[in-house]
Amino acid sequence: MNIVIFGPPGAGKGTQSNLIVQKFKLHQLSTGELLRQEIKNNTELGKEIKEIINAGSLVSDIIVGNLIEKHISNPIFKNRLIFDGYPRNLIQAKNLNHLLKKYDQKIDIVLKLSVSLEIIKKRILERKTLEKRADDNQEIAIKRYQTYETNIKPVIDFYKQTNLLRVINGETTISEISNEISGLIEGIKGWLWEIRQYKYAGKQKTHKFMARIAGINIPQNKIVSIALTYIHGIGLHSSKKICKALEIPSSKRVNELSEEQVLKIREFIDANHKVEGDLRREVSVNIKRLVDLACYKGSRHKKKLPVRGQRTQCNARTRKGKAIAIAGKKLTPLKK
Ligand code: AP5
Ligand code: MG
Repeated sequence: MNIVIFGPPGAGKGTQSNLIVQKFKLHQLSTGELLRQEIKNNTELGKEIKEIINAGSLVSDIIVGNLIEKHISNPIFKNRLIFDGYPRNLIQAKNLNHLLKKYDQKIDIVLKLSVSLEIIKKRILERKTLEKRADDNQEIAIKRYQTYETNIKPVIDFYKQTNLLRVINGETTISEISNEISGLIEGIKGWLWEIRQYKYAGKQKTHKFMARIAGINIPQNKIVSIALTYIHGIGLHSSKKICKALEIPSSKRVNELSEEQVLKIREFIDANHKVEGDLRREVSVNIKRLVDLACYKGSRHKKKLPVRGQRTQCNARTRKGKAIAIAGKKLTPLKK
């Protein structure tokens, strides 16, 4: 798994990368750290970039590109990298894709930490006393923030297109952010594992495998249009539409799908459908609003009775779950 983490200076990229490295046994590749190391060792490159870094500007794309290629090409780090602070502009984002492709790898998730300038200033001044970084003072911190803001918009758009981007509120506590990131990575890890199982299942038909889409294990032996209805929020109509849009024959079975097709379905659902947790949350918020309004529908929800005008006295029980007794109505005896 390769992860990209970016955000303004002081957003917590380094802090969170450290925690991810420990938890998921990855390797942190901080371009800032690599460049500072060059300065510390007083190398030719170090001398060349010292002024640039201390002024809060970006080092040339070629220099940083060469530095990261050394790591990407190293088989020890293959699919185990967390890119802290790379890419910082569109050229770097495209270069990263190019290099990963060259070494038969890819990005699995992109994490953006969002933090306001006010908090950044505070954090950087606090860190100055601890780490004594030459670029850690209020004026240069603002300059670094502005450099980030100027360059990052196209990078965000670039990763939005690939559906890899996850935005995280970087203003909560370190452990809260870490938990959120771990949850996201666990999700991906689980999913990657499923994909590997899927490949395996393709070779050995006896192996039990469930393709995972929208966090749900859909059954492998059912046809796609039926299997997708196991996802809360996808009915038969939607599942047929999904198959049509992706040109996947809806009569194909899940275990006959290629890895790309599973990926395509997952991305299509992410982009176009509200499902599972998100849908459940939306529904419960809507119900709560009706209850708060105390309108007819709200009062029916409150009493756990059917909402859409069905006659509760004699027929149509549409609510799921255990039936509740209604005054004056005998419950229909269960059929034997
Ligand atoms: P780099 O070293 O990457 O600096 P940066 O981007 O400015 O980011 P920082 O390292 O300052 O912040 P961070 O997000 O890692 O936050 P941290 O975890 O330390 O780059 C330095 C320079 O190198 C650049 O300016 C540029 O010149 C050059 N460079 C690097 N990459 C380049 C590239 N790709 N292309 C061109 N040039 C490049 O946290 C900050 C502080 O806040 C810490 O004290 C931490 O304890 C605290 N903190 C963190 N999270 C929290 C929290 N949730 N609550 C409270 N405190 C927190
Ligand atoms: Mg850092």
